[in-house]
Amino acid sequence: MTQPALELQELIAAMEQRRAKVEAGGGLDRQKKQREGGKLTARERIERLLDPGSFLEMGTFVEHGRNRLMDGIEAPGEGVVTGSGTVNGRQVFVFSQDFTVLGGSLGKMNASKVTKVMDLAAKTGCPVIGLNDSAGARIQEGVDSLSGYGEIFYRNAIYSGAVPQISAILGPCAGGAVYSPALTDFILMSRGSSYMFITGPEVIKSVTREDVTFDQLGGADVHTRKSGVAHLAYEGDEAVIDGVRDLLSYLPQNAKEQPPVVPCSDPVMRSNEKLLELVTPDQRRPYAMLDVIHELVDGGTFLEIQPDWAKNIIVGFARLNGQSVGIVANNPKAMSGSLNIDASDKAARFIRTCDCYNIPLLTLVDVSGFLPGVQQEYGGIIRHGAKMLYAYAEATVPKITLITRKSYGGAYLAMNSRDMGADVVYAWPTATVAVMGAEGAANIVYRKDIKESANPEATRAQKIAEYKEAFDNPYVAAAKGYIDDVIPMETTRARLIQAFAMLRDKQEARPFKKHGNMPL
Ligand code: HXC
Repeated sequence: MTQPALELQELIAAMEQRRAKVEAGGGLDRQKKQREGGKLTARERIERLLDPGSFLEMGTFVEHGRNRLMDGIEAPGEGVVTGSGTVNGRQVFVFSQDFTVLGGSLGKMNASKVTKVMDLAAKTGCPVIGLNDSAGARIQEGVDSLSGYGEIFYRNAIYSGAVPQISAILGPCAGGAVYSPALTDFILMSRGSSYMFITGPEVIKSVTREDVTFDQLGGADVHTRKSGVAHLAYEGDEAVIDGVRDLLSYLPQNAKEQPPVVPCSDPVMRSNEKLLELVTPDQRRPYAMLDVIHELVDGGTFLEIQPDWAKNIIVGFARLNGQSVGIVANNPKAMSGSLNIDASDKAARFIRTCDCYNIPLLTLVDVSGFLPGVQQEYGGIIRHGAKMLYAYAEATVPKITLITRKSYGGAYLAMNSRDMGADVVYAWPTATVAVMGAEGAANIVYRKDIKESANPEATRAQKIAEYKEAFDNPYVAAAKGYIDDVIPMETTRARLIQAFAMLRDKQEARPFKKHGNMPL
């Protein structure tokens, strides 16, 4: 190779020196502290996320916005590493906050590095992955750092539904650092080393006198079990980042594309006899809906989203003959699968996420109704339940519903019935569709007959039996066309795959509007 002239050699050496300084971030001591806390550095995280050798860095030499308080302060790389690369061969954009540089705090120029990759992601139609580890607004930059957050929030919102946005929370994310993730499609957290809160324990103590640790306030378990803010929790940075890669495999690059189809070795016609033992006609015998899902989907692989929050509804991604599907299913093992406030929010959000990204929806129904109760009414179950109705009606992706057992009342509609826009509705012979269960119905409709009877209990039992005979089956609904077919349970996988294939080119127009006014 030809040796460059001496002057050029000096320029190259200077460039390399500058680059090395940027790549060292906050220095070896702070990196050591970061690793001692069980965390990877910002650059190690990018390496873990992207295919080997694919990272293309941008904004390498960006420096902080100068002001009096920032004089003399160095911020190599401006506290965030940004660029693009590939995940399983597909391009993504990434920003990785560097906690070793001023706590990964966000100043104006730091934000400009982030918005640069967000804009490129939108222009090229690629997902954006945020690896978050930040102490929030950079205190020394005052209103400029708030402005930086504004620029990011604005883009999170306007690119929402255009390209997938995924947030990995890998450190103490405080203040503004949590609202950007909250505006993205998915939040994944690491247990024990990541936190999300608006105000930290010290401020809380001074204002409300409540004494909490970081973990009790905003740890991964809090946000995946209590608040519903985060979607998935893992042990450690590596597992979170691998989780991001897995999640991406179900999503398209952008809203104009279809999700990737992967080769499938699980036979389409595989018989599902196992279901015959799992789901019996006895309404009092709950079964694990997760077992039903595992039995139906390719290789039994199901990526459950928010598995530990609102467990009465199950949502997540799987594949049927290699094609991504979003599954929404009641869970008869939790609260009899009834719908409450949190379940409605969880399902509505998931349905809308699938619709944004062209992922067909499969709804598995075994629902007793909306959960009755004063707290539910005071908490606004009407407005929350309405979100589910809205989300299903709004969704134009292929929508298939399978009623496995009971489907009662308003919840029958909320679980994507024919009238709410289901393209295909199947039921198993175990299904029953009615306004309510036979016991409740007989007690209301025949109250007078039961009361006036010489033998009220015998009359009650007879009326329950009569009601059951009339309505407690799938055939009344099927006779009126609300159910397209009552299918043998063991053929379910094949039926679903055939029906989704039939719907592959589905197009559905909606009347012009700026956007709908979804109940919130
Ligand atoms: C500038 C900051 C900083 C900040 C921390 N640092 N927070 N620098 N702006 N907001 C610096 C520290 O001086 C330190 O620098 C380094 O980052 C690491 O911080 P430590 O406190 O040593 O780390 P740790 O003990 O791990 O505690 C992490 C922390 C704590 C819990 C995040 O730093 C903290 O509470 N910071 C303040 C959080 C906050 O209130 N942010 C503003 C939120 S308001 P050296 O040089 O020693 O390494 C906000 C408004 C936006 O974000 C709202 C928009 C809606």
